[in-house]
Amino acid sequence: MQEHPDTTHLIHHPYTPPEGFEAPQPGVFKASTVYFPNAAAMRSREWKDKSGYTYGLHGTPTTYLLEERLCALEGGLQCVLVPSGLAAIANTALALLKTGDEVLIPDNAYGPNKALAEGELQHWGITHAYYDPMNPADLAARLSERTRLVWLEAPGSVTMEFPDLVALVRMCRERGVLCALDNTWGAGLAFRPFDLLGDGALGVDISVHALTKYPSGGGDVLMGSVMTRDEALHLKIKLCHMRLGLGVGAHDAEAVLRALPSIGLRYAAQDRTARELARWWLAQPQCVQLLHPAFERAPGHAHWRALCAPQGGAGQAAGLFSVLLDARYSQAQVEAFCDALQRFRIGYSWGGPVSLVVPYDLASMRSRVQIHLRPGHLVRFSMGLESAEALIADLQQALQCHLPPLPVHAPT
Ligand SMILES: Cc1ncc(COP(=O)(O)O)c(C=O)c1O
Repeated sequence: MQEHPDTTHLIHHPYTPPEGFEAPQPGVFKASTVYFPNAAAMRSREWKDKSGYTYGLHGTPTTYLLEERLCALEGGLQCVLVPSGLAAIANTALALLKTGDEVLIPDNAYGPNKALAEGELQHWGITHAYYDPMNPADLAARLSERTRLVWLEAPGSVTMEFPDLVALVRMCRERGVLCALDNTWGAGLAFRPFDLLGDGALGVDISVHALTKYPSGGGDVLMGSVMTRDEALHLKIKLCHMRLGLGVGAHDAEAVLRALPSIGLRYAAQDRTARELARWWLAQPQCVQLLHPAFERAPGHAHWRALCAPQGGAGQAAGLFSVLLDARYSQAQVEAFCDALQRFRIGYSWGGPVSLVVPYDLASMRSRVQIHLRPGHLVRFSMGLESAEALIADLQQALQCHLPPLPVHAPT
């Protein structure tokens, strides 16, 4: 039998490259194991304050760098990275809630946030209630002695209503309840969640992101973040993060670091395309309601304007919107329309290079009747980086094939 060649000298090779290498992209540091020079250093080294490295799960230069850049984007002070946007929601809930507590969630929140409350949280004796995000009085009525956390989302998922975030945050502050914003839509660009009044006086306690969307920008990475401006709050989240083992891979962190410098350009381009397509939809007789917060008659438009276009002008919005299609079409016709699209692909998520479409069954997603929504079939579109002309041509051909105009209905 042949002996294995001895590769010990390769494993313990003495060469170290010279210092001083600089290039546009930062180096990628991969580790589970991190070395200590001696046992005393192993015992004394600290990771919670990022003054050192102890184990890959607790941070590497690559993850620290991404956390710092995300804080710089949004105005946070501390941040942890987690393996998905949903993990960011779960990390927040599990760090802050215990048996007997209650969490309040907007009725139009990202669906899996509600599913977590109805599943694991409920099993562990943590109750939840859904509030109407468009009616601050409804939140006020539901806040109780047991409320420990209020979720916010602006705009809401799928139906895109923009709430009066300032009023909701003020209410949480007055009642001494923590509020966490799912700021995936705003991406740290459309408004400043830690500084809602522009004078540093009012902000959310926590901002979570699905970095999966705009920060990664490629449709090929799953990651999330939980950001705060409060050291004690951050420590609670970080310890829970550590106990749950919610680390991220170095190559995924690298992909987000690589995409981050272009986030502003991509966000603006997808915003522009979305508004062009939304304007086009307004002129189509098949559309009975357009749900895009930057359009005047959309639910919560005034709140969007106050926060995302405070100086007037076009303001900022993410590149996605929904339409309600005439209820007289059948579900099968609406799905045939989606199937016929060539540039829009059928798939979840947003913020990547390819435009996506999803038909939703709204009735199964809300706990109350949505009086601000017209009856109809809801279809959500998220913009990729294709041209608006190509996307409109795609919509046109699919409409012509499967949704012929019906007798008059004016879009709102
Ligand atoms: C508003 C919002 N928050 C969170 C998430 C969850 O992100 P992830 O897919 O990375 O878990 C999504 C995903 O669609 C989302 O739309």
